[in-house]
Amino acid sequence: MLKNLNKTRRHILIGAALASAGMGLAHAADPIKVGLIVPMSGPFASTGRQVDAAVKLFLQQNGATVAGREVQIILKDDGGVSPDVTKRIAQELVARDKVQVLAGFGLTPLAFAAAPVATQAKVPMIVMNAATSVIPQRSPYIVRTGFTLAQVTAPMAQWAAKNKIKSVVTFVSDYGPGIDAEKVFVKDFTKAGGKIVASLRAPLRNPDYSPFLARVKDAKPDALFVFVPSGEGAAVLKQFTDRGLAQAGIRLIATGDVLDDDLMPSIGPAALGVVSSHHYSAAHPSPENKAFVAAFTKANKGMRPNFHAVGAYDGMHLLYAALKKTNGDSAGPKLLEAMKGQSWNSVRGPVTIDPATRDIVQTVYIRKAEQGDGGVFNVEFDKVEKFKDPGVE
Ligand code: PHB
Repeated sequence: MLKNLNKTRRHILIGAALASAGMGLAHAADPIKVGLIVPMSGPFASTGRQVDAAVKLFLQQNGATVAGREVQIILKDDGGVSPDVTKRIAQELVARDKVQVLAGFGLTPLAFAAAPVATQAKVPMIVMNAATSVIPQRSPYIVRTGFTLAQVTAPMAQWAAKNKIKSVVTFVSDYGPGIDAEKVFVKDFTKAGGKIVASLRAPLRNPDYSPFLARVKDAKPDALFVFVPSGEGAAVLKQFTDRGLAQAGIRLIATGDVLDDDLMPSIGPAALGVVSSHHYSAAHPSPENKAFVAAFTKANKGMRPNFHAVGAYDGMHLLYAALKKTNGDSAGPKLLEAMKGQSWNSVRGPVTIDPATRDIVQTVYIRKAEQGDGGVFNVEFDKVEKFKDPGVE
C-alpha cells in the first residue's frame, strides 16, 4: 500500500516536471537573478556609479520583465582592489542567491578572480568593464560588452605614425590592460616607422606620476602615449600641465580611459587639443546616443555617461536579447549560446559579439578634446569600423 502510494507520488512529480519543461518555460514565474559586481567604493568607485546608473536606466526604459521573466539585479560592491573579495562575492551570489548571470567587473584582476566561479557554476559572466585581451580565455562562460586596450590602442599607434609623430615615450599603469596597451603601441608604431624612446610603467596602487613625467620631459619625444584606468586621468593631466611638458613641445596622446567622460568636467581646459582613441564618447553624434546622454544625465543629477556606463547598458541589452532568443530559458549553456553572434546598434555605433571569441567587435574612433556646449568633449574625427580585438603577443 505504502509502496504504491510512493510510486503514485513519484509519477505525479515526474509528470509535473515534464509538463512544465514541455512548455519551454520551465520556471515561467521565477525571476532571473543577475549578480552585478562592481566597485561602488574605493579608488574606482566612479566605475560602479556609472555601471549602476546605466543598468537602472536600461531597466527603466525597457521594463524589468523580458520573455515572461522578471529580471532582478543584485548589486554588490567589491571595493575594486581585492581579487579575493570579488571571488568570494561571486561564489556567494552563485551558491546562496542562486544567480543565473554574473555581470560587471571593474578591473582585470577582479574579472580573472571570478572567471573560475562562472566556469564551475556554468553561469554566463558578462564583463562590462575590464579590458585586458586575455579575459574571455579565462572562462568559456565569459562574454565581453566593453572593449579591449589592444583594440583601442592599435588605431592610435597608426594615427600617430601618420600624423608627424616620429618618437614616442609610452607610459602605462603596470598591470594587464596597461601592459597590453604598451605592447600593442610599441609593436604597431615601430612597424609603421616610428621610434619608441622609452617605455615607462607606474604602479596601479597609489601612483605618483610626477617622477615619470620628469623623465619624459628629459627624453623630449614628439609625443607621450598614456594609458591609465578610468578615474586616474585627471591626476596625469594635472602633472603633465604642471611639469610644463606641453610647453616643452611634447604632445599628449592617449586611450580614451585617460579622458574618461566621467572626469572630463573636472579635467576641463587641461584636456583641450589632446587626441585619444576609444570606442565611446558622450559626444558621439548619433540620435541614439543623444537620447541616451540626455536620459542618463537627467536621471543622474547631470552626470555624463562614460564608456563603463555604455559597457553596462549594452551588457543589459545583450542579456535581454539572449533571453528573448531562448524564450526566457536561463539555463547557463543555452543563454551563453544565445549571446554569441548577437549584433545591435549601440549608442556607441554598431557592435557584434564575435561567436568565436565572445569578445566585442566595434568601431574605434579617433577624437580630439574640444570646447563644446556644457564643457570639454572628445569629438570624434576619424574611425576604424568593425574592429576586432587584435590580441597581444
Ligand atoms: C581594467 O582593469 O581592465 C581596466 C580598468 C579601467 C579601464 C580600463 C581597463 O579604464
